[in-house]
Amino acid sequence: MSTITIKDKSFVPFIEEDKLQDAVKKVADQINKDYKGKQPIFLGVLNGSFMFFSDLLKSIDLPCTVSFVKMASYEGTSSTGTINELIGLSEDISGKDIIVVEDIVDTGNTLEKIYQILADKNANSIKIATLLYKPEAYKKSHTIDYVGMDIPNAFVLGYGLDYDGLGRNLSSLFVLKE
Ligand code: IMP
Ligand code: MG
Repeated sequence: MSTITIKDKSFVPFIEEDKLQDAVKKVADQINKDYKGKQPIFLGVLNGSFMFFSDLLKSIDLPCTVSFVKMASYEGTSSTGTINELIGLSEDISGKDIIVVEDIVDTGNTLEKIYQILADKNANSIKIATLLYKPEAYKKSHTIDYVGMDIPNAFVLGYGLDYDGLGRNLSSLFVLKE
C-alpha cells in the first residue's frame, strides 16, 4: 500500500505487517517465559491496543484471563483539576498478576495515570507491555517491562492507532509525512 490520506494529513508506509508480528511474538515469548506457573490477567487499554492485544494473546500459552479498560479524563472543580478515571474494570484484582497492554507509550502520561490507579488495588504485581515505545518522547521514570519496538518521535497510524478516530483498521504501520 502506498500513501494514505486522512482528512488533512498524508501518511506513508513505515513498518510492514511481518515486522510488527515479529515484535508481537518477541513480547509473547518473554511473557510466556516470565509468567510460567502463573495465571496473569491481561488488561488491554482501549481503544488503541485492540489489534496488538488480539495478536499477542494468540501467542500466549499460559492459563490467563482478559479484561479491558479505558482512560476517561474530565475537568473537575478548580481545586481538583483534571480527574482521571479508569473505566471498565469490574473484577477484583487484589492478589493477581496484572499485565497492562498498551499500543504505544509516548510521553508516558497515560501509562502513569493508569499505573497509579491500579497500584491502589493491591494487585500482586503490575507489569506493562507495549507494542511501540518512543524513547525520545518519554518523560516518566516508570519501567516499561515489555516493548515490541522503539520508534522515533513521529506520529504513527494503523494497527490499532488512529488519527482523529480513523486508520485503526490498517494491518501495518504508517507514519505522518512531514
Ligand atoms: P502518552 O503521551 O504516552 O500519554 O500517549 C497517550 C496516547 O496517545 C497513546 O495511548 C495513544 O493513544 C496516543 N498516541 C501517542 N502517540 C501516538 C501516535 O504516534 N499515533 C497515534 N496515537 C498516538
Ligand atoms: Mg492509546
